Amino acid sequence: MRVFCAGLGVLAVGLTCFQLGRICFQPASVQAQDDAAKPEFYTTRVKPIFDQNCGRCHEGMNRRGGLSLDTRAAMLKGGHDGTVLVPGDPQKSLIVRLIRHEGPADDPMPMPPKRPKLSDADIAVVERWVKAGAVMP
Ligand code: HEC
Repeated sequence: MRVFCAGLGVLAVGLTCFQLGRICFQPASVQAQDDAAKPEFYTTRVKPIFDQNCGRCHEGMNRRGGLSLDTRAAMLKGGHDGTVLVPGDPQKSLIVRLIRHEGPADDPMPMPPKRPKLSDADIAVVERWVKAGAVMP
């Protein structure tokens, strides 16, 4: 009986430490994801990338391939090939596959076309944003 109680005691202490550890040492990625789920993440990090690299073909009056990047609804609607955005799932989002140059080589082609690929950092930002649910103001 005594051994059994001691065992339970150790188990309880162990569990408490484990829980405390989880609370105190949340992995950085969890917090990063939270940031990416804020509308400001889109306005300050994602939109500038779109404006600079995609705007002249996919914003305002420009709808190449039938696609506008102006609003979330427009991205969900997508272009000639259907939706380009699957919130929470970068792998299924055409927008991510094309900027990673992992989509079809011809139709639709890698984006931006005939220009150098986006930097890995920029691609990572777009991916994080999609993964966190593609939140827009
Ligand atoms: C120079 C003009 C140009 C730029 C810049 C450009 N695109 Fe495109 N985009 C096109 C054209 C043209 C198509 C249609 C291609 C096709 O159907 O083969 C297209 C198609 C797409 C599609 C597929 C739409 C569909 O349903 O077929 C996506 C997604 C896309 N672009 C995203 C982007 C993103 C993101 C950027 C910026 C990183 C970007 N594009 C920059 C011209 C451009």
